[in-house]
Amino acid sequence: MSGRDPGGSGPSRRALLIGGASAVGAIALGAGGLAWWTSTRLDGGGTGASDPPGDAPDAADGTVGETFREPEARTSSDGRLDVELAAGLTTVTVDGRQVRVLGFEGGMPGPTLRVRPGDRMSVRYRNDLGATTNLHTHGLEVSPEGDSDNVFVMIPAGGTFDYSYELGDDHPPGVFWYHPHHHGTTADQLFAGLYGAIIVEDAEPIDVARERVLVIADIAFDANGDVAAPTRVDRMLGREGDLVLVNGQLLPTMVAARGERERWRIVNACTSRYLRLRLDGQRMQLLGIDAGRFREAREVDEIVLLPGNRADVLVEATAGEAVLQTLPFDRGSMGMMGAPRSATTGADLARFVVSGDGAASAAPLPAPSAALRDLRDEEVTGRRTLTLAMGGMGGGMGQGMGFTIDGRTFAEGRTDIEQPAGTIEEWTIENTSTMDHPFHLHVWPMQLVEVDGRPVDGVDRRDVVPVPAGGRVVVRIAFEGITGRTVYHCHILDHEDLGMMGAIRVA
Ligand code: C2O
Ligand code: CU
Ligand code: CU
Repeated sequence: MSGRDPGGSGPSRRALLIGGASAVGAIALGAGGLAWWTSTRLDGGGTGASDPPGDAPDAADGTVGETFREPEARTSSDGRLDVELAAGLTTVTVDGRQVRVLGFEGGMPGPTLRVRPGDRMSVRYRNDLGATTNLHTHGLEVSPEGDSDNVFVMIPAGGTFDYSYELGDDHPPGVFWYHPHHHGTTADQLFAGLYGAIIVEDAEPIDVARERVLVIADIAFDANGDVAAPTRVDRMLGREGDLVLVNGQLLPTMVAARGERERWRIVNACTSRYLRLRLDGQRMQLLGIDAGRFREAREVDEIVLLPGNRADVLVEATAGEAVLQTLPFDRGSMGMMGAPRSATTGADLARFVVSGDGAASAAPLPAPSAALRDLRDEEVTGRRTLTLAMGGMGGGMGQGMGFTIDGRTFAEGRTDIEQPAGTIEEWTIENTSTMDHPFHLHVWPMQLVEVDGRPVDGVDRRDVVPVPAGGRVVVRIAFEGITGRTVYHCHILDHEDLGMMGAIRVA
């Protein structure tokens, strides 16, 4: 009884959920949206259209308009990156107001870590949170064991832990990120500000005027300027904050010159919020989602990022002033009549002001990536079905709902899937519930085969895939190269903390 119209009157659910995976779907999405933009957005603003690049004009409404800034970068050299990440309470200014958040190295987001395939990255994690924590390098294809990307590590309050990650020489380039992953408090710690970007550089740099990192995360504050505590219903729906920040800023302004090509590395670091990104009036080409690149860049009008997804995008500054926006998204409801529904609202995220003429990017588009392996052409060694479900736990909603995978909630000591190394599996992940669940598997990327019965075009590998309410996704996974025990879970992190997670061992 989902009570949802799977098709809706607009773009198909599938087109939305893997937005950008199909150029046709993405362009089809553009038509209606453009009209909406023209009629409601091209008013006011633009006061700074003649300001030189580098100076943010004052916003038309006078309440916002900070210059876009980025977290500090820590870049590897000679094959090594050694950083310290201290996690602790910190005071920052958001929307002109002093608030207390959690940050890495005093910042929200934490520093951007820039590494290359073949590098060793060492992180000394200092826990000043007053609570147990740990660190996950989301999307990195590295060992999940020992002092590497091991989510079973627990760092007590006041403790430190030395992580060490070895990236293979063949590690895909792309956008990754880090966040705490201590079961039970992952959502609390991430929502409060603990996240940062990781970039794995390309072998051949792409010719752009500038590169920007945009870590997008939502947050909410109470009257005292502390991060708002979620209600029980917030946890069940997956909490969303009323402020959607880019690098910790509310509606910052970016400035570019006409003709310039920029490369944007976008992270959806929201705890639960789906992002439907648009930058109407400028040109966007999607190089890839999560790790690696598509075979060819895809022209898109809209990019949908589920919690945990990243996008690698080329933006061509065309003219005028644009607003990077996220559009509303309906993630479903708790199912009963009159039960709370998650209606993700839209928001303006950043201003993009194009002024003057820049050096038009004469450089041709980056060459298509080296031939990508297509697991659909390979023999599958096994098939498996996973079922995501929500159910009342005695007494109904008042007692909370159970969020399960294959009928059970996470148990630390139990390994749910024993997977022989070297296998290629086809997994069908079905969702019997009335809410969407973004499904995440650590370490081994998933190639999309089908979303809700519709085949996916091209080679599209992701580490978070959409599992729509009442629907299913089919993926193929090569369990090769790396062995060890780790987890898969819903990346609505409140659901993960409520138990929608399992453990897998590949050996
Ligand atoms: Cu981004 Cu298991 O997490
Ligand atoms: Cu992860
Ligand atoms: Cu979920």
